[in-house]
Amino acid sequence: MRTIFDPAELPPLRMYQVLTASVVPRPIAWVSTLSQDGVANLAPYSFFSVSSVNPPVVQFTSVTRKDSLHNIEATGEFVINLATEPLMAVINSSSAAFDRDVDEFAELGIETELSEQVRPVRVAGSPVAIECTLKQVVPVGDSFVVMGDVVTVAVRPEAVADDGLPDFTKLAPLSRLGRNEWGLPPHVVTLDRPQ
Ligand SMILES: Cc1cc2nc3c(=O)[nH]c(=O)nc-3n(C[C@H](O)[C@H](O)[C@H](O)COP(=O)(O)O)c2cc1C
Repeated sequence: MRTIFDPAELPPLRMYQVLTASVVPRPIAWVSTLSQDGVANLAPYSFFSVSSVNPPVVQFTSVTRKDSLHNIEATGEFVINLATEPLMAVINSSSAAFDRDVDEFAELGIETELSEQVRPVRVAGSPVAIECTLKQVVPVGDSFVVMGDVVTVAVRPEAVADDGLPDFTKLAPLSRLGRNEWGLPPHVVTLDRPQ
């Protein structure tokens, strides 16, 4: 017998626990933004995916209104830094509820570098940075799906494979699972698609 979870009968917190333990593993967007006053902000978001490739659009979801969303609405820009294994502890630290006037890069000692096309800085130690301008915010209940037009993808040289693309093994991406679980980089197998 399967265990049945009926959203009509469950409180929202339980449904959150069921969905986040079921839709796994989720990659983690480490989102950097700037406030209207120029204060840098950084926070992890695992409700993160590609929305479309033509045009290139990515998305993450702010569950309730958080500072990242606030900043993106104010400035129209953000950077998604890929969350990777060596950065796990500091990524977790950046999920704390800092006051809006706290520069989280400075507070947590995270090295920055200038972005190519947007004002929010990149995390220097993250191998992939996806620079975005705000496309649209779609409200869904108590959440907000933030879609960004991708204006640049910047990959560190050591993370590029011989074919010119990011190399999964060198990226060592983290994932978010259910509860307080994190996923470390999994094994990779290659399988051609059927004709
Ligand atoms: C690994 C991880 C993934 C997270 N994913 C999300 C998410 O997808 N959506 C969300 O609203 N909060 C998520 N959080 C919680 C936010 O990071 C946290 O609320 C943070 O303080 C928001 O920062 P901000 O207010 O500066 O944007 C996640 C936390 C962790 C540790």
